[in-house]
Amino acid sequence: MKFTLQSVDLKKQHKFSLIIAVSEKGEFTASGKELDKALNGQITQLIKKGDFSGKSGHSLLLPQNSTQPYEHVLLMGCGKNITVNERDYKRLLTASLKSFSQTKATNLLCTLSELTVAEHNLPWNIKQAVETCADALYCFDTFKSEKPTSPTFKQISFSVTDKKLLAACEKALSQGVAISEGVSYTKNIANLPSNICTPTYIAQQAKLLAKEFPAISVKIIEEREMEKLGMGAFLSVTKGSAENAKLICLEYKGTSKKQAPIALVGKGITFDTGGLSLKPADAMVGMKYDMCGAATVLGTLKAAATLKLPLHLVGLLATAENMPSGTASKPEDIVTSLSGQTIEIMNTDAEGRLVLCDTLTYCERYKPEVVIDIATLTGAVVIALGHHATGLLSNNDGLANDLLTAGKQSYDRAWQLPLWDEYQDQLKSPFADMSNVGGRPGGTITAACFLSRFAKKFQWAHLDVAGTAAMMGGNDRYATGRPVPLLTQYLINKCEKK
Ligand code: BES
Ligand code: MN
Ligand code: ZN
Repeated sequence: MKFTLQSVDLKKQHKFSLIIAVSEKGEFTASGKELDKALNGQITQLIKKGDFSGKSGHSLLLPQNSTQPYEHVLLMGCGKNITVNERDYKRLLTASLKSFSQTKATNLLCTLSELTVAEHNLPWNIKQAVETCADALYCFDTFKSEKPTSPTFKQISFSVTDKKLLAACEKALSQGVAISEGVSYTKNIANLPSNICTPTYIAQQAKLLAKEFPAISVKIIEEREMEKLGMGAFLSVTKGSAENAKLICLEYKGTSKKQAPIALVGKGITFDTGGLSLKPADAMVGMKYDMCGAATVLGTLKAAATLKLPLHLVGLLATAENMPSGTASKPEDIVTSLSGQTIEIMNTDAEGRLVLCDTLTYCERYKPEVVIDIATLTGAVVIALGHHATGLLSNNDGLANDLLTAGKQSYDRAWQLPLWDEYQDQLKSPFADMSNVGGRPGGTITAACFLSRFAKKFQWAHLDVAGTAAMMGGNDRYATGRPVPLLTQYLINKCEKK
């Protein structure tokens, strides 16, 4: 599938299937007007007769006939007027693609990107349209014997009537393509079951990524080396598993300038049973997605490398499997972290913070400018924010604001929670420097408080994506690829500031 821009005379683009927005008042966008003329006012007549309402999401696929020179013509109602909000904009795009599912359309010419989307411009519309369409067309059928019939599209083209904006739109298009490729890549890894997607498998994927992009290099730290280093917290999580844990270290050098790197740290628990603090059966379903943080780091690095961003990036994937067994960690075990701080493991199901804390300490050797960790860390964040916003906590308000902004720009939004000292008290242990859990109140915050004790040497932000990286309930289970768009936008913004 190819995404392109169309700036030539749309009236002559006969090999295309058109998507035209129409409001309830019968308004069109600029191209819509032109195309209605090319169709001899056919659309205007339909509206006059009351055959098309223009209500948001209502659509009409005009039958092909000799007077209609295009492949197909789809009218998509956009509501009261041709100004829409972000959410409706995405819904209209998705609905449009769906309307073609009974056709053999190959080349779409979409003019919905000409709609006015509140607070945004044409380049934004194009970038978001690419991501939305790629999302709508994504399908994970590796394990289906009978593959679902896939859409016949070969090309989706977006109209750009204002030639002055063409360069900016080209740039937006390539960013949209790179981000959606990163998102699909993240989804493909995340959707795999844990019997295939083990720490070893993720390490192989990281090596393949490094092969694809010469600017990316990779180094794998095995359990033996973790022992030598003193990563007692990380190792306590993998003790019960037959799979080998791995700390996967990637580096992307997109610039020859010496630059303190931006480090992305991903939680990569390939399956989280809870360990001896075993999860109930229902709560265990979805726990193959406990490696979404790691998959997000891979997808973001891929997008950054595709865009050749002039940045120095580090990606650290803390991968392990959390299993109960005779060799597993037990409640009240005390371990010594790489930082030297001791931890009483009061709940083996709070394993994410244990692999992450040693990885954060390990991160210090890169002398990073900024460290962002991404983790499906707490069920509590799903209670607090549901599935729409990623939880954001940070020891630096500038960094937090940059991430919140990138989230708004990419429509992959985050919401900040406080990291006040008062919450730190909940982590007290009578025997060790800290407990690994802080009780039910403010569970997302105390998890971040725990991590903050290992992130004192740099600007750090934590993204709790337990509610946003994947949908885990019932039969509708899927990885979303979030927050690859947010992080890639953050990196793009960084380049523009530098
Ligand atoms: N991987 C889970 C968090 C999670 C829960 C992700 C639901 C996605 C959906 C994490 O390792 C976990 O088990 N957290 C515990 C922490 C508790 C023991 C302090 C939780 O949230 O219950
Ligand atoms: Mn857990
Ligand atoms: Zn977990």
